[in-house]
Amino acid sequence: MDQTAQIALAKEKFEALLTEQFQRVERMKSEKLFLDYSQLKPIIIGMAGGDGIGPTITGDTQRVMEFLLQDEVKAGKVVFRPIRGLTIENRAKAGKTLPDDVLAELKECHAILKGPTYTPRTGDPWPNLESANVAMRKELDLFANLRPVRVPEEGIDWAFFRENTEGAYALGSQGFDVNEDLAIDFTITTTEGSERIARAAFDYAKANGRTRVTCVTKANIIKATDGKFLRICQSVAKDYPGIELDDWYIDIMTAKLIDPKRRTQFQVLVLPNLYGDILTDEAAEFQGGVGTAGSANLGKRYAMFEAIHGSAPRMVEEGRVQYADPSSVMRAGGMLLSHIGFPDRTAKLTRALDICCVTERRIAPNGRDTGATSAQFTDYVIETVRTLK
Ligand code: IPM
Ligand code: MG
Repeated sequence: MDQTAQIALAKEKFEALLTEQFQRVERMKSEKLFLDYSQLKPIIIGMAGGDGIGPTITGDTQRVMEFLLQDEVKAGKVVFRPIRGLTIENRAKAGKTLPDDVLAELKECHAILKGPTYTPRTGDPWPNLESANVAMRKELDLFANLRPVRVPEEGIDWAFFRENTEGAYALGSQGFDVNEDLAIDFTITTTEGSERIARAAFDYAKANGRTRVTCVTKANIIKATDGKFLRICQSVAKDYPGIELDDWYIDIMTAKLIDPKRRTQFQVLVLPNLYGDILTDEAAEFQGGVGTAGSANLGKRYAMFEAIHGSAPRMVEEGRVQYADPSSVMRAGGMLLSHIGFPDRTAKLTRALDICCVTERRIAPNGRDTGATSAQFTDYVIETVRTLK
């Protein structure tokens, strides 16, 4: 093929991508209102165990949540619903990251707690499917990825609002080789997509008495998309008097997170998808690693909560599943509880987990038979919740 033909082919592909993105923008514009959980009866919580250690740790987390919500469950206000099909075996069989029946089940829920799902790599016996997390974020339009990181003794209390549907991820698997010398990927920023994540960050700051939102981009270099993201954050900030917006570039931000004097000044951070992916791993490390962090994926109609860690295939191979540590899924479950209208239960669970994981730590899983099982740890958490006022 000569260059003219290669360019013509690339134009065709680009045209199709633009059409798809125009349609996505229209869908975003038409979805205006957030779900009002106080009006729902029952609130359906989908429990998707996922792969590997997932069913064990989400099952145990459900026990804690059912304990905390026992009155609501009895009164039929809250229902837990198992979603069993989100496994790699099932996804491989359907040849789809999110099989249609599973997606339909997920869409019947108002909030979802998801265990880790396995993403196939080259050399695996599985078909090369897209990550189920990324597919769910896109399918359910979960645009705000809220990742809190707290290390109270060091004055760290950060809430990251990672844009979750655009940026480098929007067309992450749709870039292409124009010819053997040239590959192209795309980064997307839309007005609607940036406005909604900026508002989510500012609304959170306002509701939680925070006084500063920090926008992190590389707008000095990636001028069109990051520049737009920053400009929209600046314009949204005008609607929130009393909350200051400051603006940092991602390179210096990664450095300043390890500066003990500077880092305590950050409160709420808002950032495009890829920077958010990277920076939140760094941030979680201060708290004890990605295994200690919970994460909320929030949209207008759906919400999905998950731990940041994976499905631990090695633990499965070595028969150690029952020794998995459920605490990060429990933190994600805690975020779910306040999202659906029970912040008092979240507060209780957080206090219990701080006691069980940090201050008292009487029963601790370590992933092996020298430590506690997930079930024993869960009993300990429930007992601790019982002692709290
Ligand atoms: C995360 C993860 C995912 C991502 C992976 C598993 C696709 O790293 O949730 O941060 O890149 O978003
Ligand atoms: Mg990540």
